[in-house]
Amino acid sequence: MAPRLASEKRPVKKAAKSTAPSRHLLTSAELPKVWVEALFDEARRFKTAEKAGHPWSEDLKGQHVGLLFFEPSTRTRASFHIAAKRLGADPVTVEIAFSSVQKGESLEDTVMTMEAMGCHFLIIRHGEALSGQRAARVAKKAHIINAGDGSHEHPTQALLDTFTVLERRGSLAGGTVLFLGDILFSRVARSNIELLKTLGVKNVIVSGPPSLMPSEEELESWGISYVPELNKALAQADVVHVLRVQLERHGQKMPMTPGSYREAWGLTEERLVKFCKKDVLIFHPGPMNVGVEIDREVADGPHSCVLDQVANGVFIRMAILKRLHQAC
Ligand code: NCD
Repeated sequence: MAPRLASEKRPVKKAAKSTAPSRHLLTSAELPKVWVEALFDEARRFKTAEKAGHPWSEDLKGQHVGLLFFEPSTRTRASFHIAAKRLGADPVTVEIAFSSVQKGESLEDTVMTMEAMGCHFLIIRHGEALSGQRAARVAKKAHIINAGDGSHEHPTQALLDTFTVLERRGSLAGGTVLFLGDILFSRVARSNIELLKTLGVKNVIVSGPPSLMPSEEELESWGISYVPELNKALAQADVVHVLRVQLERHGQKMPMTPGSYREAWGLTEERLVKFCKKDVLIFHPGPMNVGVEIDREVADGPHSCVLDQVANGVFIRMAILKRLHQAC
């Protein structure tokens, strides 16, 4: 197993689940099933309204939604921005590269500053695990939403992924979900696995290079198994979540070259045709290393749900903003 980075404080122990709606959305692990189901209903309503030509609402009129992205983002940041606008709120983006963070201002001071200016929501992406919890400790009234904290969690991505899986398949009862690739550093895998557990999905497996797998302790805590032979893992899967190789988190050179990674672990067209089920669904949270963990033909092919994930991200994030606003 690969050693954990010293800077990674990834907690294996989970927060206790309650059924009461929380003011914040920090982890998938703490989301109650009823909350998730109600959220999906709300997202479906927003999607139906958009199809009917009524995409705008005033549910969040007068609210300010601060976007604090300490790490790069295209989908998450833009979809929260669009979601806020569609609800009648005002998105406020702080360009971290040109902000006082560059003068050494702490996350806590940035959060308190934005709240003092009237932000009702703070959407935070940060390189350190548990940064959302740090923000939540100092926020007096604002809702904190974790948009990715290090290799720890990315709950809104997991919600949009699972929403899209259910939209495409109807149900996951009896189905097998495979997470393929760099699981060790993937907040997307972690949040999805926690969410699937909450929703009662039994058959979840992981596959990928042994050096990019979490500890046995962590796999055990999720109740999932590692399938080291890629062809066997693909053959079982109804849904495959291909994960980006998180080069920026490896802290050392990637254990393989891009070419040798593709050769050993890439979801190529050939592997798709040869090993996967005929109706398999392929997911990738983006951004994709095309030609490394996934081939162009697969990403753009008939099994791919990649753009459905992106499109649904807006409805899920609208639903999250609305429900947190209603909760307290
Ligand atoms: C993911 C992220 O940032 O964790 N991207 C996203 O939010 N769509 C996945 C990744 O960067 O690999």
